[in-house]
Amino acid sequence: MKGIILAGGAGSRLDPITRVASKQLQPVYDKPMIYYPIATLLQAGIRDILVITTPADRPRFEALLDDGSQFGVSFRYATQPEPKGIAQAFLVGADFLGGDPVALVLGDNIFYGELGFDEAVASFDGGALIFAYPVSDPRRYGVVQFDGSGTAISLEEKPLRPRSRYAVPGMYLYGGDVVAIAGGLQPSDRGELEITDLNRVYLEQGRLRVRTLGRGVAWLDSGTHDSLLDAANFIATIEHRQGTKIACLEEVAYRAGYLDRAGLGALVADMPASGYRAYLEEILAEEPG
Ligand code: TTP
Repeated sequence: MKGIILAGGAGSRLDPITRVASKQLQPVYDKPMIYYPIATLLQAGIRDILVITTPADRPRFEALLDDGSQFGVSFRYATQPEPKGIAQAFLVGADFLGGDPVALVLGDNIFYGELGFDEAVASFDGGALIFAYPVSDPRRYGVVQFDGSGTAISLEEKPLRPRSRYAVPGMYLYGGDVVAIAGGLQPSDRGELEITDLNRVYLEQGRLRVRTLGRGVAWLDSGTHDSLLDAANFIATIEHRQGTKIACLEEVAYRAGYLDRAGLGALVADMPASGYRAYLEEILAEEPG
């Protein structure tokens, strides 16, 4: 399975911060926001990743992440000229996908905990698989409603009167037909190709599965000043308490076996003195195995 990280968008709610650089390059505590969704894909076993950015910010993402070979993975880049909707990612990424199944993760979504994404990816057999997560204010999100047996029966985008508390987080799996289905969507009233409309096609075809994420999972987005601060505080709290880092890409790649000890050592040798480097030096000093 291939991966797409959608990291374009206007970032208007974070103005004036996003005048300097796009939202997904902003820090969430001790690393750029995009590290978190990249770690989500790497930990799910996905190593072939397309990063979709705005045209203006593409060089900055490339400077930050390069071609991925330093982590033993592959990053490619594409641009979305205007933010015309999340489902447009599949049209921008059509050549990259080449008919393969894909996991899409939004560049400002942070997942933490026992997600089960690795198993979901490994067992995926086509159609669409989305997730559901209970939130206190579902009106800000796509909302999924279930019947008594737990089968999804409706999907609505930012409903004024939500039919459930279950929001759809920004991690979605699709079979190779997603490009054709996205190509058949009409823009919504706000002029976007809506991911909720795409998912509704799969729902109507009886090919949508929805997995509920448990209470032990944290799902944060970081699109407003307050949610960005909340996310940073959450990451800092866990990192301080446990003495580990969340979404440290060098560590993730090393522990996943994408990067060997020598490769990790070479990355660390190039880093300036920092807490980030010191953390990786401790990992290098661990007994192998
Ligand atoms: P949003 O938070 O819905 O939009 P935004 O990032 O443009 O921010 P704002 O509403 O404050 O202007 O987007 C969710 C994620 O999807 C985010 O990582 C940006 C990305 N995105 C795109 O890359 N292209 C798009 O066309 C849209 C709608 C979103």
